[in-house]
Order: sequence, then structure tokens, then C-alpha cells
Amino acid sequence: MTDPARGTAAPLSTWHRLADASVLLDGFHALKHAVRFHAHVPVAVTTDRRAALALADELAPDVRVTLETLLTEIPEDAYRSLVPRPHPTGVAALAERPSREANLETLARPGRSAPVIVLDNPRNLGNTGAVIRLAAGFGATGVVTTGTLDPWHPTVVRGGAGLHFATAVERLTVAELPPGPLFALDPEGEDIRGLKLPDDAVLAFGSERTGLSAELRARTDHLVALPMRPQVSSYNLATSVAMTLYHWSATGGAPA
Ligand SMILES: C[S@@+](CC[C@H](N)C(=O)[O-])C[C@H]1O[C@@H](n2cnc3c(N)ncnc32)[C@H](O)[C@@H]1O
Repeated sequence: MTDPARGTAAPLSTWHRLADASVLLDGFHALKHAVRFHAHVPVAVTTDRRAALALADELAPDVRVTLETLLTEIPEDAYRSLVPRPHPTGVAALAERPSREANLETLARPGRSAPVIVLDNPRNLGNTGAVIRLAAGFGATGVVTTGTLDPWHPTVVRGGAGLHFATAVERLTVAELPPGPLFALDPEGEDIRGLKLPDDAVLAFGSERTGLSAELRARTDHLVALPMRPQVSSYNLATSVAMTLYHWSATGGAPA
């Protein structure tokens, strides 16, 4: 039911005004994470305010008050006109993209206490979202992509469950990568089990199709391998990032 006190015209016109320049938060969990990690959310809608707030009571009491203020109920057909794929939770919101300057400063900060992940020309939007979610979970400083894929593409944001706001996500060229010892992951490298990855490491992973680029290899300080039996060619990109971040955390680096 539409909340008569709030109406639907104002949120819909705000949505249409801001949509092109904003990040789409698709579903309750994306909105919850974005709010938790201090995203600026100018508009949030739901097809069932009571159900969305019940989810907040159950899963996110820390942001319940904020969600109560933000969420406006709109009719199902209006909601369907705003999102490419309706989400089972019937929740959608727009968030302001964090400043690139602030992210670049975070990524390049001297004495970083957690690694930066580099995806060298990733091709799969779902993999990239999964990596951003991993980076957020391990408290990594950020995720940098090289190449043409946009790490803020709506499908990546959906895959990342709104956790783009918990880590610094930017696209850069190889020449622009943040400073720091660069450990590139490749099956031909040195076994990771004998290494301690420093907190300020830049951890680079190759493209799903072609692996590490020549340019990235030229910038590499250490080539590192994940344990894998000989008959297997390679692991999936996101699972490789998961194992590497786990290794970093298990050998001294720790999630906040
Ligand atoms: C799907 S793999 C790339 C496979 C690609 N066909 C190739 O030629 O390398 C994506 C990335 O995951 C990482 N990766 C996968 N398996 C790995 C392993 N056993 N050791 C280290 N890195 C690995 C590497 O960074 C690799 O470039």
C-alpha cells in the first residue's frame, strides 16, 4: 500500500532526475550494505514497505531507522519501470558514486594496512562483483580494474551486493596502478604457501580469457602460484582472489 503521507510522485521524479548519474542499488541487501558503509542515498523505493522494514528488523537492525526514513512505497508497475530486473525483495535505491579523487587517494596512501586487488582486464561482470564482495569482507583497501569493463556497471554492483561502498573501486591503466610491491597470481609462479604477503601489497589477477597481460607482467615484482594439481589449467578468477586474500589473512593480515 502507498504511504499517503509520503506519496509516490516526489520519489519518482527524484529517481528520474538522478538515475543516469547514480549507482543503482538493486534489492534490500545492496541498500543495507550501502547505508552501512555510508553511501549517500537520495532515494529508495519499495513495493512493500512493511516487508522491507521487517527484513531490516531481522537482518539489519543497525540501519533500520535510516531505512525507515529513506524507503517510500510505490506501486509494483512503477517499481518495474525503474529497474531492469525486479529483485525478489522489491527494493531499489539510487546512491551517489564516491568521489574518484578520494578513492585514488585511498588507493595510493603510503603504509596501507590491507592489500589492493587488481583485476587485469576482467571480462565477466559477475566475477568482478564477487571480487568486490570478497575485498569488502577481508577489509582490502580497494579493487582496481584495468581494461574496458566498468567496475561500477549495474550487474557488477548487483554481484557485489552493494559493497562497492566498503572498499575503493576504480578503473585505472596499468601505468596508473597504486605504488607498492606487486604480487601477480599465475600458475607458473612461486608457491604462495611459502610466502607472507605484505599488508601494502598490490595483488594482481589476470583476465579470465588470457591471464596476465604483458604490461602487468612487466610491472610485477613477484609471480605467485596457488596450489593446484598438474592436470588442472587454472582456477576461476574470483576463487583465486578468495584463496589469496585468505592466505594474506591467515598469515598475519587480518580483516578489521
Ligand atoms: C581463469 S584464470 C586465467 C586463465 C587463462 N586462460 C590463462 O591463460 O591464464 C584467471 C586468473 O586467476 C588466477 N589464477 C587461476 N588459477 C591460478 C593458480 N593456480 N595460481 C595462481 N593464479 C591463478 C590468475 O591470476 C589468472 O590469470
